[in-house]
Amino acid sequence: MEADMKIGIIGAGKVGTTLAKYVKDHGACVTGFYNRTESSGRESAEFTGTEYFTTLDSLMKVSDTLFITTTDKEIEKVWDCIAKKNVKGKVICHFSGSLSSDIFSNWEETGAYVCSVHPIYAFSNKFTAYQNLTGAAFAVEGHRTALTRMQELFRLLPNRIVEISTSEKVKYHAATSIASNHVVGLISMAVELMQEAEIPEASAYELLKPLVENNVKSIFEKETQEGNASGTEQTAEYRGCAQALTGPIERNDTETVRKHLKHLDRRQWELAYRAVGTAVTELAEKKHPERSYETMKKILGHE
Ligand SMILES: NC(=O)c1ccc[n+]([C@@H]2O[C@H](COP(=O)([O-])OP(=O)(O)OC[C@H]3O[C@@H](n4cnc5c(N)ncnc54)[C@H](OP(=O)(O)O)[C@@H]3O)[C@@H](O)[C@H]2O)c1
Repeated sequence: MEADMKIGIIGAGKVGTTLAKYVKDHGACVTGFYNRTESSGRESAEFTGTEYFTTLDSLMKVSDTLFITTTDKEIEKVWDCIAKKNVKGKVICHFSGSLSSDIFSNWEETGAYVCSVHPIYAFSNKFTAYQNLTGAAFAVEGHRTALTRMQELFRLLPNRIVEISTSEKVKYHAATSIASNHVVGLISMAVELMQEAEIPEASAYELLKPLVENNVKSIFEKETQEGNASGTEQTAEYRGCAQALTGPIERNDTETVRKHLKHLDRRQWELAYRAVGTAVTELAEKKHPERSYETMKKILGHE
C-alpha cells in the first residue's frame, strides 16, 4: 500500500531527514528537500535516496504535501514565503510541539490545508534517529482535510497518532515538557541533595536508579480490569500515578515532611518540594479518599 501523496521537505535537519527516511522506508513517496544550506540539503537527499531542489518553487511544483521542518522561529517566515505562491490544494504541515497550525495565518485565502504533527520523540542525530522512531507517538491538529491526508500516511506507519485540540496545544506541549525535562530537573535536584548528604555523585545515581526506574515502571504497568456481568470484555488499563504513589506524603507523615522542608537550604528546592509535594498530596487524596490530608496541605502550602 502506498499513501497517494508526494511529500516535499523544507528543512533538512534532524526531523526533516529522519521523517523522510522513515516514511519512505514505509512506502510513502518523498520528492526531496529544500534547505537553507545547500550542502546539508544535498547530504539529506543522498541519505534518503531523494532529490535536492535548489529553489522552493521547484520542490513545490512536484509536491502536494509540504513538511516544514525548519526550526520553530523560521516556520512563519517559510509560510509567509510559500503562501504567496500557488499552494491551492496542498497540505502544509509543521512539526513544532509548541506552535499550532494557527501559525499559518490566512491559510483559508491560499486554498491550502494546514496542520501540525508533533513527534513525541527526541531526535538527536539526523542519520540515526529513524532507527528508533517506531515506538514514538505523534500528536496532530489542524484542518480536517489535512488531517485526513496525514491519517492516510500514518496507515503506512506502525506509530500511534493522537488528535489534540488546536487551542489547547500549548498545554499539551507543557505536559510533554514536564514529563521529560522537569522530571530530569527533579532527579538532578535529588542527585545534588545527595551530594550535600556527603554521598558522591556516582553513588547517588546508583542509589536513585532503581527508585526512579521502578516508579516509572509501576505507573505504566497495565492492570487487567474485569469485564462486567453483561459480558463486556476484560480491558487493560495503566496503573497510573495515584496507585503507584508511595512515600511520606502518601503515608500522611507530616513530621517527616516538616523535617525535609527544614533541611532544604536552597530556596528554589524548597519551592519545588512544596509545589510538587502539593500535587503529590492531591494524588494521595485520590488514592485514599477516606484520609484527611488537610494538615499536610497546610504544611506544604504555608508554613
Ligand atoms: N529535535 C527534536 O527532538 C524535535 C522533536 C520534536 C519536534 N521537533 C520540531 O521539528 C522541527 C525541526 O527541528 P530539528 O531538531 O530538526 O531542527 P534542526 O536539526 O536545527 O534542523 C532545521 C533545518 O531547517 C533548515 N532551515 C532553517 N531555516 C530555514 C529556512 N528559512 N529555509 C529552509 N531551511 C531552513 C536548517 O538549515 P541549515 O542546514 O542551514 O541549518 C536545518 O537543516 C522544529 O519545529 C522542532 O520544534 C524537534
